[in-house]
Formats: sequence, C-alpha cells, structure tokens
Amino acid sequence: MAASTATHAFDPTLTLPGPVPITLFGATTPSGQALIELARGRRLVVAGRRPPLPPAGGGDPPPFLPCDLETSSGEEQPPRGLLVSFAPIWSFAPWLARYASSNPAGFAAVQGVIACSSSSVITKRFAANGFDRDLVQRLRQAEEQLTLTCAAQARPLRILAPTLIYGQAGPLGDRNLSKLRQLLRRLPLLPLPGQGGLRQPIHCRQLAAVALHLADRLPQDGFDPAQPVHLPLGGDDTLAYAVMLRRLQNATELGDAARSCRLLALPPRFFLALAAPLLLLSPKTFEAVLRMGADLAGFTPAHRILGGAPEPFPVLPLAP
Ligand SMILES: NC(=O)c1ccc[n+]([C@@H]2O[C@H](COP(=O)([O-])OP(=O)(O)OC[C@H]3O[C@@H](n4cnc5c(N)ncnc54)[C@H](OP(=O)(O)O)[C@@H]3O)[C@@H](O)[C@H]2O)c1
Repeated sequence: MAASTATHAFDPTLTLPGPVPITLFGATTPSGQALIELARGRRLVVAGRRPPLPPAGGGDPPPFLPCDLETSSGEEQPPRGLLVSFAPIWSFAPWLARYASSNPAGFAAVQGVIACSSSSVITKRFAANGFDRDLVQRLRQAEEQLTLTCAAQARPLRILAPTLIYGQAGPLGDRNLSKLRQLLRRLPLLPLPGQGGLRQPIHCRQLAAVALHLADRLPQDGFDPAQPVHLPLGGDDTLAYAVMLRRLQNATELGDAARSCRLLALPPRFFLALAAPLLLLSPKTFEAVLRMGADLAGFTPAHRILGGAPEPFPVLPLAP
C-alpha cells in the first residue's frame, strides 16, 4: 500500500471512542458514493485506487488511503475499523487474506467485514455459457475465501448478494437500467417475451443503507447465529420485466423520447425464435435474452432489514 498523497493523512482519530470507524472500498461506485453521503459526519476513510468524489451537496471528500487490491497487502497504512466493500469480491477476498497473513498486528484493528458479492452466484448457477459459469465460480471461490479468512481471524462477516443495482448517487450512475433507458430512447418499439420474468431491482442508496445498517450492528450481533452471513438482497418491489420498463418510462420527464417507445409483448416462443440467431453470434447475449423471461426475484427486500416502509420502484434519483 503506497503512502497517501492526499491532503488528508490516515485518520488518527480512529482510536477515539465513538461509533466504529469505517474503511470503505469501492467508493467510486454509485453504492459507495451513496454510503459516503449516508455516513456524513461519522469517521470514514476511503481505500481504493482513485480518491473519492466530494459528497453531493458540498463538503469535503472523506480521507483517502491509496490501496490497489491487486497489489497491496495492507502493510504500510493498514485499513481498520469496519471494512465495507463495494469493490469486486474476487479482488477484495484475496487482498483480505493477504492482509490478515502479512500484517496480523494491523489486522487486529479490523472489527468486521461487510462485502458485496452478487445474486448472480445464485441466479447464474446453471448457466449454459462459459462466461457466466466462470463468473459464478469466481464469486463462489471469493465468498469461500472471505468466509475462511474471517473465521480464522474470528471477525464477523456479512456478504451482501444484491440483484440488479440501479440509480444515481452524486455524479455516479448505474450502467444497467440507465442503458435500458437509453435503449428505450432510441427504439420505436421493444419486443419482449410476454411480460417477461420478475425483477427486484435495488437502488444504490438502499444497498448502501443496508451495508451501513449491518456494519453498525456487526460489533454487537456479528456472531449471532440467527443473523445470516450470506444475504441475497433486492429492492422492495417485485415486478415483471415489462412493468419495470413501463415504470422507468413513466419516471422520465414529459417529452423524453424513452416514453414513446412501445413495449411489444410477443408470445415467448415467437420472441425466442426471433432471438435465436444470437445463439450463433454470442451465446452469452442469447442467454441474457433468455433470462428476460426468468424470475430473478425472491431476495430479502431492503426495507425488511432497514425497518422502514417499502419504497416503490423506481427509487429516485435515476441515472440519466
Ligand atoms: N452493477 C450491478 O448491477 C451489480 C449487481 C450485483 C452485484 N454487484 C456488486 O456490487 C458492487 C458494486 O458494483 P458496481 O457495478 O457499481 O461496481 P464494480 O464495477 O463491480 O466495482 C468498481 C469499484 O471497485 C473498485 N475496484 C476495482 N478494482 C479495484 C482494485 N484493484 N483496487 C481497489 N479498488 C478496486 C473501483 O475503484 P477504482 O476504480 O476507483 O479504483 C470501483 O470503486 C460490486 O461488488 C459488484 O460485484 C453489482
């Protein structure tokens, strides 16, 4: 880990009493940015390759600890407190294992870990294409490695496995529903396999709120056997693919081209016959089209953890 070149040194107040400080990885994602905004006023350090952006609405960005998960092992300025990660779990898990073995004294200041994996570990388990099978394998191996590291060091762990993350936080937006919205703007009509399968998209702010909520409870109930270590997570609404698109259309401003795209519900067999040539061009894309008809839902809704009222889809703000 390189010495910090930012104006903020690694926070010396981390040893003061108060809520456990957080070291955040993957801060330059919409969920990371949302967490920075939700955690405003508390002790938080960002670890990553790029410094964090200032929170929306003004204020200083949090202190920055340069850390490339591929190359560092937490030897010089060890991250401490609660580690929360929205970085790819296959980078974070090996880094944590290296950190624990190469710097046990530094690791002693780690009080728990919240790491983001993906619901793909469940939903793509039986994929027919090699790309998705490799993804599942990488996610699973990383989850196992993280579990072993935390168990060996007696540190509490939560692995969040969110489905479809969407939304905007500060200047950062998602690259999935926003892409669909752009497609709606370009196409006069969009064929669908009937109403499509079920989806349970989660807004980046909801995911960040769940991570923060669980992080705050980790020191007390981190080893409570009643609390699941692996948490498949979704938004509060479960809706058919076509309904999700219609709600996205309705959430755009009047006059936005996305509103005028017609959603054309075709008989699913006819839709798949039309998509069949994709199988030759890209089996991965063909399987993604197949998945439009699959139910990718049934995950714990964010509000059940946070305790508030369910938030209907779409939660704002959306990425443009
Ligand atoms: N997008 C989705 O719909 C979705 C669905 C399910 C689960 N997830 C999971 O949710 C989390 C956020 O997803 P995302 O799509 O917004 O982001 P992502 O592209 O998976 O991750 C990018 C983040 O990871 C950091 N990162 C990557 N490699 C790093 C390295 N070697 N060292 C330090 N930091 C590194 C990046 O930081 P810098 O580039 O700034 O260094 C950036 O903040 C991820 O864990 C992802 O697997 C995403």
